[in-house]
Amino acid sequence: MELRRAIGDRRSIRFLLPHKPVEREKIQRMLEAARLASHWGNMNSLRAVVIERDVAPDDVIEALPSPVGGYQIALAPIVIVWYIETAATDQAAERLRELVAIGAVGYGDNKRQQLEDTLVPMFAAMGDAVKQPGLGEVDCGQGIAQATLMAFEQGLGTCCLGTANAEAIRIKLGLPQSCRVLVTQTVGYPAESPEAGGQRPRRPFEELFSLNGYGQPFPRDPEVVAELERDAMIQTQAPLPWREEELLYLRRALELEGEGLI
Ligand SMILES: Cc1cc2nc3c(=O)[nH]c(=O)nc-3n(C[C@H](O)[C@H](O)[C@H](O)COP(=O)(O)O)c2cc1C
Repeated sequence: MELRRAIGDRRSIRFLLPHKPVEREKIQRMLEAARLASHWGNMNSLRAVVIERDVAPDDVIEALPSPVGGYQIALAPIVIVWYIETAATDQAAERLRELVAIGAVGYGDNKRQQLEDTLVPMFAAMGDAVKQPGLGEVDCGQGIAQATLMAFEQGLGTCCLGTANAEAIRIKLGLPQSCRVLVTQTVGYPAESPEAGGQRPRRPFEELFSLNGYGQPFPRDPEVVAELERDAMIQTQAPLPWREEELLYLRRALELEGEGLI
């Protein structure tokens, strides 16, 4: 799938077909995409536990909604628990040496010694500070985003779910204390139409991005916008006129009871 179209087609899909299993190889492709994402110092601190709803113990499934995600997790054949292994930064020196050895970082005859004299002690001096939420989470987000696009490329639907239960999930899954649960991600075949009601609104471009200094909006060229509309990266914004009917249909088809928000 072409990148622009893939970015445009992606939606958070909250209504999944509960009865249709997801092939394990499709999940593997998502994980492969996450693994190849860029991580600072090539640390690869993004990790995941894949939970198969029909196989995992009940108490693991029950720990996942937290407090959001109830109906979404109930519908999802797969939930990926993404977490960061903060201990990955303990291998910073090895990872950097690897990058220099393969020619990805640095230049010149003295680059290996320069690494030992500068970056290696600098990273060591940072100690546990680099394990705090920050740069590591940025890396992990890149990996999760790549996995998400891979899911869509394979016809799957997903939604990331924030969790207020991160520590409880960590303990339930038996993850070491050095790990921090970041987000859970439902995966399955969409029960909703691919448009899922239309592309979701975003804050205005100029409000988000500046040029050469804060408060100076990055100028948005309408010709570029038109091009991206032609390429289906920018699509018709939600709500499509028939969305409420679709929601009614989904609620009936999936036997969702009462009123549901999260
Ligand atoms: C890290 C992260 C956490 C999220 N948490 C939730 C959540 O707890 N529940 C939910 O329904 N959607 C959640 N979402 C989905 C966003 O609400 C969604 O991105 C937003 O509604 C825009 O829709 P779109 O993804 O379809 O463009 C989360 C998304 C991200 C990236």
